[in-house]
Amino acid sequence: MRGKGGGKTGDAPDLLSVEGVSVSFGKRKILDEVSFTVEPSSIVAITGRSGAGKTTLLGMISGLMKPDSGKVVYKGQNILRWGDFRRSRFRNREIGFVFQFFNLLPDMTSYQNIIYPAIISPASRSLKEKVDYLVGYLGLEKIVHQYPATLSGGERQRVAVARAIINSPRIILADEPTGNLDERSAGDIITLFRTLRDENGMAIIIATHDSRTVAGADVHLNIDNARLQRIEPPERRKKARRAR
Ligand SMILES: Nc1ncnc2c1ncn2[C@@H]1O[C@H](COP(=O)(O)OP(=O)(O)OP(=O)(O)O)[C@@H](O)[C@H]1O
Ligand SMILES: [Mg+2]
Repeated sequence: MRGKGGGKTGDAPDLLSVEGVSVSFGKRKILDEVSFTVEPSSIVAITGRSGAGKTTLLGMISGLMKPDSGKVVYKGQNILRWGDFRRSRFRNREIGFVFQFFNLLPDMTSYQNIIYPAIISPASRSLKEKVDYLVGYLGLEKIVHQYPATLSGGERQRVAVARAIINSPRIILADEPTGNLDERSAGDIITLFRTLRDENGMAIIIATHDSRTVAGADVHLNIDNARLQRIEPPERRKKARRAR
């Protein structure tokens, strides 16, 4: 399934497709007929200068914001036609969020932050086991009872990733997840995303300014002047030239 990221393989529907989405704020067009597809088990990096519309696009995908026109199709259904209840259930169960500023709740320990989305989701089973597994998986044993204010940036972001995946979402939306991290911690987060892609089949959509995050992605999309374009990586371009 992986590789192209743009088109459908066989008869299986894409996990997610954004179809002709346009958004304006006042007279300014932020997204103009934006279309792309996301396959399971893939990492998609979205770049574009500050103000290009990356966060806006993630907001559309999560169903938190509605475009002026276009569709966001998840497993064959247009989520924009769903009611509020169904859309919030979709967000809670199928999507995990990771943000630049971590967005951890300051009065809760790492453990409490990780478990929180699962408590509000009725589908969660054997929660303690699951949190313990994630804590081990992400190497958070030593800091699990600390509060966010006492954690390093890299530790906070790993707690935030644990929280994002506690409900086993199919999609992670990450908004500049490495924006506040040193190189090594940023590298750790990218490695972690690759592991989640390979071992759990998650699709991870990352808005980023970071070239290493882009290099670690399967698909690179760039927003320029409200239009979204797929960028082929230099290696693949070289290979294509050699093949000619
Ligand atoms: N609710 C809103 N009302 C009016 N304008 C908005 C609104 N939300 C976003 N914008 C504008 O839309 C543009 C795109 O914003 P967005 O946050 O999507 O950019 P971005 O690509 O994520 O930028 P950055 O890299 O700085 O995070 C910006 O110019 C912003 O000011
Ligand atoms: Mg943004």
